[in-house]
Amino acid sequence: MLRIDEIGVYYGQVQAVRRVTLHVMPGEIVTVLGGNGAGKSSLLSAIVGLVPTAHGRVSWGEQRLDGPESSTHRTARLGVALVPEGRQLFSTMTVRVNLLIGGYQHHARRLHDLLGPISQLAQHQGLRQRLERVYDLFPRLHERQEQIAGSLSGGEQQMLAIGRALMASPRALLLDEPSIGLAPRLAGQILQQLVGLRQEGLAILLVEQDAHAALRIADRGYVMETGRIVAEGTAKQLLSSERMRRAYLG
Ligand SMILES: Nc1ncnc2c1ncn2[C@@H]1O[C@H](COP(=O)(O)OP(=O)(O)O)[C@@H](O)[C@H]1O
Ligand SMILES: [Mg+2]
Repeated sequence: MLRIDEIGVYYGQVQAVRRVTLHVMPGEIVTVLGGNGAGKSSLLSAIVGLVPTAHGRVSWGEQRLDGPESSTHRTARLGVALVPEGRQLFSTMTVRVNLLIGGYQHHARRLHDLLGPISQLAQHQGLRQRLERVYDLFPRLHERQEQIAGSLSGGEQQMLAIGRALMASPRALLLDEPSIGLAPRLAGQILQQLVGLRQEGLAILLVEQDAHAALRIADRGYVMETGRIVAEGTAKQLLSSERMRRAYLG
């Protein structure tokens, strides 16, 4: 289980995350809702080690993810993957190369280390199997595998960002607003893929501004405001809460 206990994140004097406690079990989709600036991205960044925590604890099973040894490579190796805000693809590289890098990245310290052997990467048995699996999940990526990532539509780029994270064979998947900027139907399709991944036993932490869309697929949810958790419950409870209705569900 992914467990976050009382963590705090600061940027200089600004406290972006205030004593947040939450957990995600394998086979569960948990959503973190909240408006712009609530601290959602900072929370995900702290979990994967992109920003340091000032106090508290982040653990994944028996392993501690925060602390002095914390790094994004270590987190990825331990099976926790982030689909970052804004996708952050290698936009001048092909779909296939982006995916292969995703599978290899957690072994390499720098992009530089893996540019040499990219042609060899494709020969790697494990990576080939994972590539096939991602193509099964997103047939569109298979069709476009030799296309430059930057030339894909927004929805396809989001599929690629998720596919790239899955190439590391994670057991926990954190997503930062995967549906942002997408037409509702496409956003729904992307979120629907997460339901399949839940069935495979992944622990999924989904950050969303679109509360309706997120609560449609989530088991549970937390609501953040100015760095704090201000509400939590099952998706059903949150959908019927008066406060949620007024603030987030319209
Ligand atoms: N790199 C940064 N440096 C300084 N302040 C930041 C930085 N990133 C985020 N913040 C601030 O932290 C708060 C939470 O931001 P963020 O985690 O991005 O929220 P959300 O993802 O919910 O929109 C905001 O007040 C934001 O301005
Ligand atoms: Mg954000």
